[in-house]
Amino acid sequence: MTQQIQWFPGHMAKTIREIGEQMKLVDFSLEIVDARAPQSTQNPQIMDMISVKPVFLVLNKIDLADLKQVAKFVSKNKNQFAGILTTDAKTGVLSKDFLRQLKVNPIFAKLSEKNAAANLKALVTGTPNVGKSTFINHLAGKNIARTANTPGVTHFLYWIRTRYNLIFLDTPGLLWPKFDDQEVGTKIGILGGIKDTLLASDDLALWLISFLQKNYPTAIATKYKIGHFPLDNPVAALMSITSQLGMRQDFESASQRLINDFRAGKLGRISLDFYGDDYLED
Ligand code: G4P
Repeated sequence: MTQQIQWFPGHMAKTIREIGEQMKLVDFSLEIVDARAPQSTQNPQIMDMISVKPVFLVLNKIDLADLKQVAKFVSKNKNQFAGILTTDAKTGVLSKDFLRQLKVNPIFAKLSEKNAAANLKALVTGTPNVGKSTFINHLAGKNIARTANTPGVTHFLYWIRTRYNLIFLDTPGLLWPKFDDQEVGTKIGILGGIKDTLLASDDLALWLISFLQKNYPTAIATKYKIGHFPLDNPVAALMSITSQLGMRQDFESASQRLINDFRAGKLGRISLDFYGDDYLED
């Protein structure tokens, strides 16, 4: 991955500055991540800044994630956050479930007690495509109104009233300028967080094939009805998938199809942040 500069446009740097300036106005933060990669889709660049207030990590798209890996992530990371919550923002009813999880959280309960008369304000952040807009839309209801609370001060952040006692400060989907671990960039690309046109889809597909062959060895064979492949030959697997899809030599289209199928959950519940297949140690 060499195009690091292009996915960090100027507005992202300005947004980060505005977040820093607005932290004093919010009571807590909701960082929305993709439940299939809850570590890799966390933004390391803003964590220090938002940690001046309690941070709740929201694992969205839980319907697509491998629940065993989610449980492992939660067990390893529960002390890093005020709370780790799970949502399926696509299903509206689950916003109620999200609120239930929030209400039973002791840190949230304390915040509510302290602000009994007022609505609580939450900064909402997330990398692109984690489902932040869908999540907010469900909580805000149909008549979503975005208001720049302090005109001239915030250009990129918007206050949004929800149907509940919560007000959100919404932020644009954010990335950070450099991935220290290249696999993080690859995973975000596969999850749709970086414009597809900036990435080579066959590189992403080959990484995904290797990952699946190692950690979910039946996923590809089941979906594309192809035979077993040696773990170390993802190219052969991609060629077979391409021909099985009737795409002749069009590896690019086959790669995009594989990635889209993965994104839509058609290969099963799969997590890209993978913590091993053994049972959860307690
Ligand atoms: P963003 O603001 O974080 O960039 O994400 P956005 O809400 O636009 O959601 C990105 C895609 O993820 C959308 O799909 C949305 O429907 C889907 N999505 C959001 N939350 C969930 C979830 O919890 N589970 C599942 N399975 N999908 C979710 P899309 O294909 O881009 O659009 P659409 O055709 O579904 O509207």
